[in-house]
Amino acid sequence: MSRAAVVCGLGGALPATAVTNEELAAQLDTSDQWIRTRTGIGLRYVVAPGESTSDLAVAAGERALESARRKGGSHTDTTAGAGADVDLVVLATSTPDRPCPGTAPGVAHRLGLGTVPAFDVAAVCTGFVYALATAASMITAGVAERALVIGADTFSTILDPVDRTTRAIFGDGAGAVVLRAGESGEPGALLGFDLGSDGSGADLITVRAGGSRQRSTGEPPAEGDQFFAMEGRPVFTEAVINMSESSQRLLDRVGWTPGDLDKVVAHQANVRILHAVGEQLGLEDKQIVVNLDRVGNTVAASIPLALSDAAAEGDLVPGHRVVLTGFGGGLTWGSAALVWPDIEPVTQS
Ligand code: COA
Repeated sequence: MSRAAVVCGLGGALPATAVTNEELAAQLDTSDQWIRTRTGIGLRYVVAPGESTSDLAVAAGERALESARRKGGSHTDTTAGAGADVDLVVLATSTPDRPCPGTAPGVAHRLGLGTVPAFDVAAVCTGFVYALATAASMITAGVAERALVIGADTFSTILDPVDRTTRAIFGDGAGAVVLRAGESGEPGALLGFDLGSDGSGADLITVRAGGSRQRSTGEPPAEGDQFFAMEGRPVFTEAVINMSESSQRLLDRVGWTPGDLDKVVAHQANVRILHAVGEQLGLEDKQIVVNLDRVGNTVAASIPLALSDAAAEGDLVPGHRVVLTGFGGGLTWGSAALVWPDIEPVTQS
């Protein structure tokens, strides 16, 4: 057995406002039937005016810390600062509160975590897996003992109001896990990662303006360039290929076969993508976790929110062999493997 990062808490948060397909169809040239059949999505949540990514991140972080206190994650070591629950915060987001500074330090401050190291990871829909790998590596290296890993995004704030495709798909939310130092043989230990990127596809999922490439000049950006843009068809294909191949590489490394898996928790982008990944890996439907019908694509929050829902509903139980797999802008992809621990997710305060 060797030192490993172990999942010991799980939380999720959604904004109060739900938007149904019918409500979208009242504003845009779309229909409940199109959205359901082409994406599987029935509902998504959006932040209120004035509400931002950090608000959701704080809510999910609080709940993950509460979950860790309830079961298997009790903590008395305060070496990182008086009252500190964790000594590291990693926040995956592509919709930070501001372009500069990172959003994580403010989240750590609002959570009362003292002066812990806190930083953002930007890997769009793969952000949570990248953040998990970063925090787990810092724990196994002895740089941290306990980490709060949050995935939070508010894509409703960057969507083009007249783009029926992106508005049908994306929703806001946040999910978080607490990691603690433990042993590789324990349930909850992160057993391995597969991470990758292909920057030749950077234009497929992008916000063109607002960075150093298309600088702010004081003039408004070129038509629509301030909004999120996505080329749906190639993104669909790349998502299927990369989540399948990444999962398979990780399974080979961990020594599991697809048949050994109880659950695959893939990034919730489109139910047709989830089924195509299942087909590539030779999985049965019962192995694939689906919650996008209720929340849409919540970007970095997608995987932890799917975990929270599956665990809360008893679809994911202690001892299950689980692979998490994500794909997103960059392009980026990543997968993680673990045996599900005995934890109680907290999704409502
Ligand atoms: N309502 C009605 N029609 C819509 C629509 C909507 N919400 N969104 C797109 N359409 C239309 C298109 O305009 C197009 O019309 P046209 O044929 O007149 O040009 C038609 O539907 C087919 O578009 P297409 O893009 O070929 O559809 P699709 O079956 O590929 O589904 C996506 C589109 C976006 C749902 C799908 O490509 C997808 O899910 N891609 C991946 C998205 C994703 O996962 N992004 C995040 C990755 S991390």
